[in-house]
Amino acid sequence: MSQTVLILGATSAIACATAAAFAARGDALFLASRDEEELKRIAADLRLRYGVKVNHGIFDAEATDTHEAFFQSIISNFPDLSGIVLAFGYLGDQQSSRDFKVSAKIISSNFTGAASILGLFANHFETLQQGFIIGISSVAGDRGRQSNYVYGAAKGALSLYLQGLRNRLYHSGVRVITIKPGFVDTAMTFGLPGMFLVASPSSIGNGIVASLGKSSDIVYLPWFWRYIMLIIKHIPEFIFKRMKL
Ligand SMILES: NC(=O)c1ccc[n+]([C@@H]2O[C@H](COP(=O)([O-])OP(=O)(O)OC[C@H]3O[C@@H](n4cnc5c(N)ncnc54)[C@H](OP(=O)(O)O)[C@@H]3O)[C@@H](O)[C@H]2O)c1
Repeated sequence: MSQTVLILGATSAIACATAAAFAARGDALFLASRDEEELKRIAADLRLRYGVKVNHGIFDAEATDTHEAFFQSIISNFPDLSGIVLAFGYLGDQQSSRDFKVSAKIISSNFTGAASILGLFANHFETLQQGFIIGISSVAGDRGRQSNYVYGAAKGALSLYLQGLRNRLYHSGVRVITIKPGFVDTAMTFGLPGMFLVASPSSIGNGIVASLGKSSDIVYLPWFWRYIMLIIKHIPEFIFKRMKL
């Protein structure tokens, strides 16, 4: 019997590719995001291409006071919910983040909203003693760089949150996977200078679904980013602070 996977931030290119990879293996989907028209279009396309059930609804990561009602409606309408993928994110503009309002939006979109909704689903899966949570963080969270340290700090916080959650939920049989993509060709990175080794959204989506069949808890996509970040993390601070990254 097919099970339902909830995708939060489902209009992103990476989320669409992930949804397609779940649909290809027969999973039903619930797609959530702020853009209803785009959700309708993506849902119709997935139904047509894969013949699976696809529902959709509005979810705003920053509107944390709406999360409890959203959570209740998902668990009452989809008792077969097998897991969630947290894909929403906001890169923002590092230059404008000298203004705290911009930083606050980056932090609430990438971290505060994530902690709010993840907490609700974590309790649910813990009670059921089953389920999975996949959180899309970023290599940007591995080390602070002048070009994107507000986004990096929010993603770093998300990675730590997922790590602690994994430690807590391990004992209940709930899987928590942290995905750390490198550069991916999406609307988020369109026109950004200095990108290299850029991956396609479909390779990332396939990697995300494949991670469920593997034992790694922290998955760099593509794989070689694990080694790139290992090197970057080991550059001594007195050298790193002089670099223009
Ligand atoms: N692209 C990259 O190089 C890259 C690298 C590493 C990690 N990532 C991460 O991968 C994930 C997907 O990124 P992408 O590049 O595919 O991004 P994208 O195309 O810019 O899409 C961002 C997604 O986040 C959703 N979103 C933003 N703010 C939201 C909010 N307040 N509430 C609900 N949804 C919200 C948007 O949905 P609506 O606007 O429709 O609501 C959209 O679906 C993000 O978490 C991103 O940080 C991306």
